[in-house]
Amino acid sequence: MLTTTTRREFFALSGGAALGCASGTVWAQQSMPVRAIPSTGETLPIIGLGSTRPVTAIAEDGPDRVEAVVRALVEHGGRVVDTWPRNADNDRAFGRIISAPDLRDELFVTINLDQGGQAGIDQFHQTLDRYNRDSIDLVNVGSLIDLDIRWPSLKAWKEMGQARYIGVTAAQATLYDRLESFLQSETPDFVEINYSVTEREAELRLLPMLADRGIAVLISRPFMNGAYFERLEDQPLPAWTADFECRSWAQFSLQYILANPNISCVLTETTNPAHMTENALTASKPVPNADARRRMREFIDAA
Ligand SMILES: NC(=O)c1ccc[n+]([C@@H]2O[C@H](COP(=O)([O-])OP(=O)(O)OC[C@H]3O[C@@H](n4cnc5c(N)ncnc54)[C@H](OP(=O)(O)O)[C@@H]3O)[C@@H](O)[C@H]2O)c1
Repeated sequence: MLTTTTRREFFALSGGAALGCASGTVWAQQSMPVRAIPSTGETLPIIGLGSTRPVTAIAEDGPDRVEAVVRALVEHGGRVVDTWPRNADNDRAFGRIISAPDLRDELFVTINLDQGGQAGIDQFHQTLDRYNRDSIDLVNVGSLIDLDIRWPSLKAWKEMGQARYIGVTAAQATLYDRLESFLQSETPDFVEINYSVTEREAELRLLPMLADRGIAVLISRPFMNGAYFERLEDQPLPAWTADFECRSWAQFSLQYILANPNISCVLTETTNPAHMTENALTASKPVPNADARRRMREFIDAA
């Protein structure tokens, strides 16, 4: 069996498409376009998984479905799995999935800490234990809560090698002013914000500023946590979307977001492996040009 490192090298040599052997099964790993993290040059595939709801569902549905979602992402060249640790049983079950020998070194795992003070420090160390890791790829302060107290802890964890990258999340436009004032004194590796054709508040000011500052950007809420589909379910896709090979409303949103070259990765949340596959495959579609993006905005604003 190929080792992980060798397998990665093999993917690189083969242009990203190769056969991998894992846990006795053989699976095809496809390539996905990547973008560089400005602070290091390390690259990340541009579609990831937001795992909040599928991990929560472990309590009722068991772990098989979320494992299938993670494997669908990886089999289509994705690596980024965004997590929000909260419940010991669910987090341990998810930890077992992402620690499987064939997944462990393939994934880029992010965690969003939502506790302050000592509870936040405990949350981080519990997560290391539950995910069976000595370090986490990206540790975020969730929703900028208690940032003054919590940010020094993240810097210390990065210094000690327990966090490879550190960042903050702001998943609603009402947090952007606080985010901008934080960025006046600190330079995180990553910022995770909401952005889509339906939530465009970051487009004119925040996204260009993050690009100028060399900060990697993760995108949440590409589908407004599902409300986007409810809003459009009775609408057919306009014929002009065929110009950029768009075949569904999910692709419409993702292609609009990915047209911004400064976005590092879009986190799509799904409990459905087929949806994960669709989202991952959208990464390889052409992005709409400026004229098409204007039409997309006008269509959504009128919908
Ligand atoms: N830290 C923060 O402050 C924060 C806040 C919000 C979000 N986030 C992150 O961002 C991630 C994603 O954002 P979100 O939670 O707002 O969810 P989202 O990705 O905007 O929307 C999820 C919804 O879209 C559906 N969906 C996904 N792919 C689809 C497809 N191809 N076709 C049809 N339906 C599809 C899902 O249903 P199915 O399950 O049926 O596919 C689900 O109902 C979260 O998991 C989390 O990682 C972070």
